[in-house]
Amino acid sequence: MARVIAIANQKGGVGKTTTAVNLGASLAASEKKTLVIDSDPQGNATSAFGFPKDPSRRTLYQTLILGEPIERVTIDAKIDGLDLIPSDKNLVGAAVELVLMDNREYRLKEAIQGIRDKYEFILIDCPPSLDLLTVNALAASDSVLVPIQCEYFALEGVSELLDTLMRLRRTINPTLSVEGILLTMYDDRTTLSKQVAADLRSFFGSQVFESVIPRNVRLAEAPSHGMPVMFYDIHSKGAESYIQLSKEVIVNAQKRVGQGIERFDTGTGAAASAAAGAAGGSGRSGDSGSGSASTDSE
Ligand SMILES: Nc1ncnc2c1ncn2[C@@H]1O[C@H](COP(=O)(O)OP(=O)(O)OP(=O)(O)O)[C@@H](O)[C@H]1O
Ligand SMILES: [Mg+2]
Repeated sequence: MARVIAIANQKGGVGKTTTAVNLGASLAASEKKTLVIDSDPQGNATSAFGFPKDPSRRTLYQTLILGEPIERVTIDAKIDGLDLIPSDKNLVGAAVELVLMDNREYRLKEAIQGIRDKYEFILIDCPPSLDLLTVNALAASDSVLVPIQCEYFALEGVSELLDTLMRLRRTINPTLSVEGILLTMYDDRTTLSKQVAADLRSFFGSQVFESVIPRNVRLAEAPSHGMPVMFYDIHSKGAESYIQLSKEVIVNAQKRVGQGIERFDTGTGAAASAAAGAAGGSGRSGDSGSGSASTDSE
């Protein structure tokens, strides 16, 4: 039975899609059959896997709104062990059309029910908003992975996201857990990155992944070549960091199965206000030193 992980943060440009694509490819490379669902009308994950815009291609829209079986919109991502449900701009309409539909929060959950045992992991790339597409993703998921960019204002919005998660747990998905908070675009040459990382670790403790994604130009280049970074430059720091993350995700999944535990407690208001406080406290920048993750300039 697949572990379903939504990759969400309503803040734009924090590395959600980069994480969905490269974590997906890394899990598949570890022989964990994986499905990536592109649930963002921008369709960035779809193009990052090398599928250019094509109005005739079926997308998540057909399943969510028109009720087509999910198998009919699922395609081979051209990588062993990896499938993709593509998206395109029509999905903008879905966010609106869902409002008037029955069962509007659970359409995706119901749609993937029948394919969950075909995969070990299902990753859902969410849009940068808390709209019904994101709500559908969170309702369908076991957990949420929150990428946070290591920059000033990085923590802005984290409290809003955590509030939303807590509300969703009370209402539509009581078993939703936090897969982890992922530090992205980490630059160990700046004290700012280090400060943001230290703040996040002190507030969220073990909920922050040990793996850190460095700022790495290969990660930014790979999508324009239509491939995950591990196929573009396997020796890059970016590829290495996502492989490392995939190992953590696999180990966490095994632990959960073995012990029946769920790693979750965003601590609601306390963590949220701590995060809000940290957002105001990380405004230093500078340079010096080095950290555990290194940034390269290839
Ligand atoms: N670790 C990284 N190093 C360098 N560039 C990165 C890294 N992660 C992401 N990027 C680049 O930053 C930009 C934003 O990343 P990405 O598209 O993954 O964010 P997103 O959260 O999905 O954005 P959106 O909210 O618009 O969906 C992209 O151009 C991407 O290639
Ligand atoms: Mg994106």
